[in-house]
Amino acid sequence: MQITFDPIAKSRIDQVDFKQLSFGRSFADHMLVAEYADGAWQSVNIQPYGPLSYQPAMMSLHYGQAIFEGMKGYRSASGDVLVFRPEENLKRFNKSAHRMCMPEVPEEIFLGGLKKLLEIDKAWVPQEEGCSLYIRPFMFATDEYVGVTPSTTYKFIIFNCPVGSYYAKPLKVRVETQYIRSAKGGVGFAKNAGNYGGSLYPTQQAIQDGYDQIIWTDAATHQFVEEAGTMNLMFIVNGALVTAPTGDTILDGVTRKTVIQIAKDWGLDVQERPISVKELVEGIASGSVTEAFGAGTAAVIAPIQIIGFEGKDYELPARKDSDFSAKVFTEINQIRLGEVADTRNWVWKV
Ligand SMILES: Cc1ncc(COP(=O)(O)O)c(C=O)c1O
Repeated sequence: MQITFDPIAKSRIDQVDFKQLSFGRSFADHMLVAEYADGAWQSVNIQPYGPLSYQPAMMSLHYGQAIFEGMKGYRSASGDVLVFRPEENLKRFNKSAHRMCMPEVPEEIFLGGLKKLLEIDKAWVPQEEGCSLYIRPFMFATDEYVGVTPSTTYKFIIFNCPVGSYYAKPLKVRVETQYIRSAKGGVGFAKNAGNYGGSLYPTQQAIQDGYDQIIWTDAATHQFVEEAGTMNLMFIVNGALVTAPTGDTILDGVTRKTVIQIAKDWGLDVQERPISVKELVEGIASGSVTEAFGAGTAAVIAPIQIIGFEGKDYELPARKDSDFSAKVFTEINQIRLGEVADTRNWVWKV
């Protein structure tokens, strides 16, 4: 499929201070816009990042047919632009699309379009240590229609944000036992916009009580931990890496998958199994649970220091450089930046 290109008249890159980047507030010059209608992708165009115009009756605004992805691009020491495992994001995107009755986006548009977009906006991939380019592909329903039914037209867009180093101070999280994120048969495994809208209120309550994030528990019993915010949860229990199995209630995280593979390659015992809140808090108290951390694209690895449950805070041991979470964080960063051999074929060079 031909990708057309309308260049920006004058780059905005001089207006951005790459030494002071925050997350998600600066946008690269161009975006990719693909249009779907009459049962097929009709056009793909790279154009200046900017406003789009829609009718108030645009269906995605009313009925929630909207999905997205998030991945990161890095600048290697030799100046190459490297993207970490984008094929995994494409697969997950199309799983989300299927669940939401939306068309799949073919590889030539998702990855082929991204390659072209990154070639054009290469200068926006930060060189500064710890910085990266956050890549946001998304798709939404565009029919002008009032009625709950799948739209017949869609837009797929990719825009990019240069982002600063994500300082992951150890988190204080609270186990949520009243509200739920997802239930069996629901859409928890999909990256659809509504999952995030629904998470805002309970998260806000936890923040008001002095926590950074919540730990979601299973909808049926509230006894088993699922995930947190935009991260999967992982624990070191008696020396083994333990994480909840993904199913239809948990997002199948690329970082989670990556950590599991590295742990297996390092010879660690990896257990994908339900982990109860009881096991967790008792294990923290007895010393069998030595590490807790979130794994996700934004922070990569976010260590957890305190877990609040039923009004009591359980504190994990202080983080050490020899911890699994610290070592795996370093390993993933080195792979992403092309600093160590990419033996697993995870790095996609633009
Ligand atoms: C709900 C949720 N869980 C987990 C993750 C971690 O997934 P990944 O490692 O692919 O970023 C994310 C982020 O995409 C998320 O939104």
